[in-house]
Amino acid sequence: MNLLVTGGAGFIGSAFVRMILAETDWRVVNLDKLTYAGNLENLTGAEAFPGRYRFVHGDILDDAAVDALVEEEGPDAIVHFAAESHVDRSILSPEPVIQTNFRGTFVLLEAARRRGVGRFVHVSTDEVYGSLAPPLAATEEFALNPSSPYSASKAASDLLARSYFVTFKLPVVITRASNNYGPYQFPEKLIPLMIANALEDRKLPVYGDGLQVRDWLYVDDHCRGIRAVLEKGRVGEIYNIGGNRSLPNLEVVERVLEATGKPRSLIEYVKDRPGHDRRYALSSEKLERETGWSPRVDFETGLKRTIDWYRSHGEWVSRVRSGAYRSYYDRNYGGRAVVPG
Ligand code: NAD
Ligand code: TYD
Repeated sequence: MNLLVTGGAGFIGSAFVRMILAETDWRVVNLDKLTYAGNLENLTGAEAFPGRYRFVHGDILDDAAVDALVEEEGPDAIVHFAAESHVDRSILSPEPVIQTNFRGTFVLLEAARRRGVGRFVHVSTDEVYGSLAPPLAATEEFALNPSSPYSASKAASDLLARSYFVTFKLPVVITRASNNYGPYQFPEKLIPLMIANALEDRKLPVYGDGLQVRDWLYVDDHCRGIRAVLEKGRVGEIYNIGGNRSLPNLEVVERVLEATGKPRSLIEYVKDRPGHDRRYALSSEKLERETGWSPRVDFETGLKRTIDWYRSHGEWVSRVRSGAYRSYYDRNYGGRAVVPG
């Protein structure tokens, strides 16, 4: 199998590339723009697979370059991760989110259609279902009800991908995963940000009352789910991939403090995120039934592994937290008045 992966230098994409190189004899071509979130250090092991791995520095918005690459490589399948993936950034600057997530998906779908690519896995998110009151857990039939520019751009790209299946018979499959965590995650998302701040004795900024609920999925379980869909998913179908572990944010933060041996006084309640979804919950029953997949890494094990990784990769953390990261941090957190918890 010859795979074209987009966004393979990011958090989940790099875990997927590492997994495929280690566990199969497939060839992987990784197309990535190396935005602030893309980092070739995430893929240092890939050189150990000469002939099976190629990195292409490029933008999925560049129609001609994408077309030429798909023509040249003739991939059997495209696994599409590349995205602007952060809700807070999508609130601060929606434009690149809409461009990359929606138009970028369009460019890839067009190239795949022209070349007749055998499978297109579109990697999406449970955030497209919006906030769900307990005890609801979204199945693939739930209505799309996105709240942020990020989740709206993902919902729009899901619909576009689906239309390419219905109209052009492009063999599209869509995955929708819950919140991921694990090594190499950019420290803008909840878990790596809290770990990195705690390890440096910085404040841990909790939005609103901290009682928003997310379902946590260890990144390797997500990647195994994507591989299951790539190999066994039915074309035209959507597959949820959830961690089956719902926790309020505050509890996640408290566990990070406990595991790093830091005091609760580091918690700082800050002004809530606008449009903040209260609760995500996902049923992965379809994926489990059709492919035999289930999550293997429980939250306690996954969190410990993740904290150990951040502890032992201090240089990676300080490199990604220097420069532009600081101005992002000030922009996102600087103006947030502290509210009593
Ligand atoms: P990430 O932000 O860590 O990585 C995104 C990657 O895409 C980076 O390597 C970046 O350089 C690349 N990229 C961005 N714009 C590009 C462009 N125009 N052209 C080429 N490459 C570009 O993201 P992630 O957390 O690894 O998420 C990967 C995918 O999984 C995204 O589609 C996201 O919506 C989806 N997803 C993420 C989560 C999560 O919890 N992180 C959960 C469900 C689904
Ligand atoms: P995040 O990791 O940004 O993922 P998403 O918004 O896509 O679910 O945030 C996870 C949850 O943590 C979300 O409810 C927002 C909250 N959060 C904070 O309370 N403080 C923070 O600094 C961040 C980044 C997130």
